[in-house]
Amino acid sequence: MASNLNLRRLRQSSLVRELARETRVSAEQLMQPLFTVQGLKQREPIPGMSGVYRENSASLLSQVEADLESGVKKFILFGVPGQKKTRGFDFNYTANEIAEIKKRFGKDLFLAVDVCLCSSTDHGQCGVVDPSGTRVLNSETVEWLSKAALAYAQAGADCVAPSDMMDGRVGEIRAVLDAAGLEQTLLMSYSAKFDSRFYGPFRVAADSAPKAGQDQVTLKDRSTYQIDPGRYGDALACSERDLREGADILMVKPGMPYLDVLYRLSQKLNTVPWAVYEVSGEYAAVEVMTQQGLINADAAHREAWTAFIRAGASLIITYGARYAKRILV
Ligand code: PBG
Repeated sequence: MASNLNLRRLRQSSLVRELARETRVSAEQLMQPLFTVQGLKQREPIPGMSGVYRENSASLLSQVEADLESGVKKFILFGVPGQKKTRGFDFNYTANEIAEIKKRFGKDLFLAVDVCLCSSTDHGQCGVVDPSGTRVLNSETVEWLSKAALAYAQAGADCVAPSDMMDGRVGEIRAVLDAAGLEQTLLMSYSAKFDSRFYGPFRVAADSAPKAGQDQVTLKDRSTYQIDPGRYGDALACSERDLREGADILMVKPGMPYLDVLYRLSQKLNTVPWAVYEVSGEYAAVEVMTQQGLINADAAHREAWTAFIRAGASLIITYGARYAKRILV
């Protein structure tokens, strides 16, 4: 006798599929990255990332205004200072950009700001390098990161987001913010950030690729501080530590190659929201395949975002947030 099991009944039409679906993505779960670069005459497109730009102060404000009109309310800002340094960093350019955005748009938007040194250092490492050029110094880097976080929070950032992967930076930043009366400023930690090749297009956008040889620095990559792709246990240890040190939101980055990590971590540490970063290389892969006529970009983005929510994310940082109305049909 033929089985009367009919699993296809619930797939028969879009309306039936809609009512059967348990995982949905909504625009309010998305956060849009923004790049602001000091000294740019005109905004510049980023290779492989259609619709994403390196902005200047003026174009940044117009872009945010356009994004608000498209329904985006959450942003993460990356500031790229005009002058690279070895030490003696100042964070005024990014702080001013934050203040301008907040002055103009106030509480209409939620503004997170990435905290790292890789766009500020002449060698492109995420921290201060020791005199032999072979090691990123933890405590000195954490001191600079705390100064950056304080400057951004004082300028009006709603959230600071350290992405450097030094030890102890979450606790230190939280203490510095609280001591300055900024206890309402959120802290989102890039807690499970892997040493990934998928950051390629971003490093062009943020002018932050490691440049071995500069100033006798021999470090070629970020593998001595970002997590090895084969070490789930390290991602767990970093996330547990950051939670203990006071992070409000934890993150897995990149997204698609680390869905298992997102699933396991969000199940295990389930008292805080989890963000996932669909990084530049993931976004560019979809865009490039689309330009080759191989896939439909909107449907592919929608599928990836659904996977992130299914795996346990509350928040998706994606370069496609500003196209959500079109993508989430
Ligand atoms: C800075 C930082 C990086 C990204 C976010 N913050 C790059 C890196 O670690 O090299 C990557 C974002 C992306 O690829 O979209 N440390």
